[in-house]
Amino acid sequence: MLLTATSLTQLPSLASEIISFAKANRIFLFYGDMGAGKTTLIKSLCECLGTTEPVTSPTFSIVNEYIGTKNRIYHFDFYRLKNQTEALDMGYEEYFYSDAYCFIEWPEKIPDLLPDHYIEVKITTLPDNSRQIIIAQI
Ligand SMILES: Nc1ncnc2c1ncn2[C@@H]1O[C@H](COP(=O)(O)OP(=O)(O)OP(=O)(O)O)[C@@H](O)[C@H]1O
Ligand SMILES: [Mg+2]
Repeated sequence: MLLTATSLTQLPSLASEIISFAKANRIFLFYGDMGAGKTTLIKSLCECLGTTEPVTSPTFSIVNEYIGTKNRIYHFDFYRLKNQTEALDMGYEEYFYSDAYCFIEWPEKIPDLLPDHYIEVKITTLPDNSRQIIIAQI
């Protein structure tokens, strides 16, 4: 599925389309350069799932936890991970294989730990500053 966001105001409706597209899939991997808009889109997805608390980048904590209306949500940012052992040590499996939603920034840092099936979200900044968002079920 290909979506385009020309402004931030479109993100809430795009987020609900993405959640519908994913059906029962709850693990989402976000790919895109620094500043592409991964955290910003995740914020909209969390709000779509009913989170009322502020959604901020978990860069330093690696994982943030939010409560949605029906689901728990884990938001990961692996950017600062030094190696995959750190993810093992933090008990990533407990999060990935719970029935919570998992939104993962910088999955490139854990190439050997990725689940077999997930929703892939690729974000690209276009020259006019809009964002192209490509969603696939892997
Ligand atoms: N769809 C959009 N349209 C316009 N601006 C956007 C959009 N999405 C994000 N931005 C802007 O881009 C900036 C960076 O976004 P964000 O922090 O979400 O990027 P990121 O991909 O999470 O980066 P990082 O890899 O550093 O975590 C923010 O200022 C945000 O407002
Ligand atoms: Mg981010």
